[in-house]
Amino acid sequence: MQSDFTYMNGQLCAEKVSVSKLAEECGTPLYIYSRSHLIRQYRALADAMKSVQPQIYFAIKSNSNLAVIRTLADQGAGADVVSGGELFRARKAGVPADKIVFAGVGKTAAEIDYALKEGIKFFTVESEPELQRISDRAEAMGVTGRVAIRVNPDVDPKTHKYTSTGKAENKFGVDLTRAERAYDLAARLPGVEVAGMHMHLGSPIMTPTPYAEALQKVRPMCEALKKEIPTFKHLDIGGGLGIAYRFEQDPLDPRDFASAVLPLLHGLDLQIGMEPGRFITGNAGILVTRVEYVKESLEKQFVIVDAAMNDLIRPPLYGAHHEIISVVQTTERAFGDVVGPICESGDFMAENRELPAVEEGDLLAVLSAGAYGFVMASNYNSRGRAAEVMVEGERAEVVRTRETWDDLIRGETIPEWTNS
Ligand SMILES: Cc1ncc(COP(=O)(O)O)c(C=O)c1O
Repeated sequence: MQSDFTYMNGQLCAEKVSVSKLAEECGTPLYIYSRSHLIRQYRALADAMKSVQPQIYFAIKSNSNLAVIRTLADQGAGADVVSGGELFRARKAGVPADKIVFAGVGKTAAEIDYALKEGIKFFTVESEPELQRISDRAEAMGVTGRVAIRVNPDVDPKTHKYTSTGKAENKFGVDLTRAERAYDLAARLPGVEVAGMHMHLGSPIMTPTPYAEALQKVRPMCEALKKEIPTFKHLDIGGGLGIAYRFEQDPLDPRDFASAVLPLLHGLDLQIGMEPGRFITGNAGILVTRVEYVKESLEKQFVIVDAAMNDLIRPPLYGAHHEIISVVQTTERAFGDVVGPICESGDFMAENRELPAVEEGDLLAVLSAGAYGFVMASNYNSRGRAAEVMVEGERAEVVRTRETWDDLIRGETIPEWTNS
């Protein structure tokens, strides 16, 4: 079980706070985050990699709650952002602009202008047209845009096809064979300065091998570019480090990761960047949900809960596995599915599984829900998004209130001319 969510006297606790009590006070579905877990994961990675003193840019796409970002910023983390909205969040949470990197294949002119105005550390650039656009916008503003070309090393991270990003067939980055051309262009463009190189292979990656393979490919190019371009000072090796989603799974140990990649980074004399998201947030969060009905069918039992695919879409989207446990400890077992109330057969949290035996009104906790959980939530079926709570020791606080029905219709109008 996730170490910060354990049973005490038969009651599931988030650190030292009773999950039942939080569910009573805040309602369900409810996301709960352990602040201690966030800090421990961050430190474990920073410590394992300390011989290269990496700048960790927390990938806020994994969990962009302001309290989460602030917790990590207080530890020294910067932010990896992929939209103007994420940049706005990072700045609101107190991340200094010079610790922010901006990735993504489709940055708009408005987003580029905003990032240039803020003075971010660098853009990770995914194409030649994007380089041109950053240069044009920067020139028009009378500033310089720092850029790191995102290279696509064509390495298979052996993960779900929707979350593989460093293979030749993916839309991300510039192929190694074209990267030289992109660097030539960057060096010639008047509005940009080459800050370095970026790569990100995909996620979740459970062994260090793909990173080592990719670094072997890009290291010679970094060495050559460093000699040619005096401003080439950064190598950002991306995120994607995996976590255990199953009880029996071994998580990727940051020390093993470090022993595989450090030899390929030592001696490069570049500022090393990393962009972990899930590794820090994944097992820092759970989703608590209440059982509405237990429905028996011919083949199995359906446990119908008040959380749905709009709250946590990973199981139907990626076929992802999340362990599900009861909030009041039980040894009794049942077999079936945990499903939500949304009108889609894809609305499930677990399928054909041995589960804790529960009845109407009981609480369940969906584990490993801290990354790509709330951030992917939607209002489908006009369901308000869940509340989020952060705990540390015996303290707990709501860090995002539950959406109301009024929140759902905010900004909508009915044109007068539709009145008959
Ligand atoms: C460029 C980039 N960096 C970092 C990440 C973070 O990945 P993870 O949360 O698996 O560490 C992603 C995930 O999509 C990404 O696209």
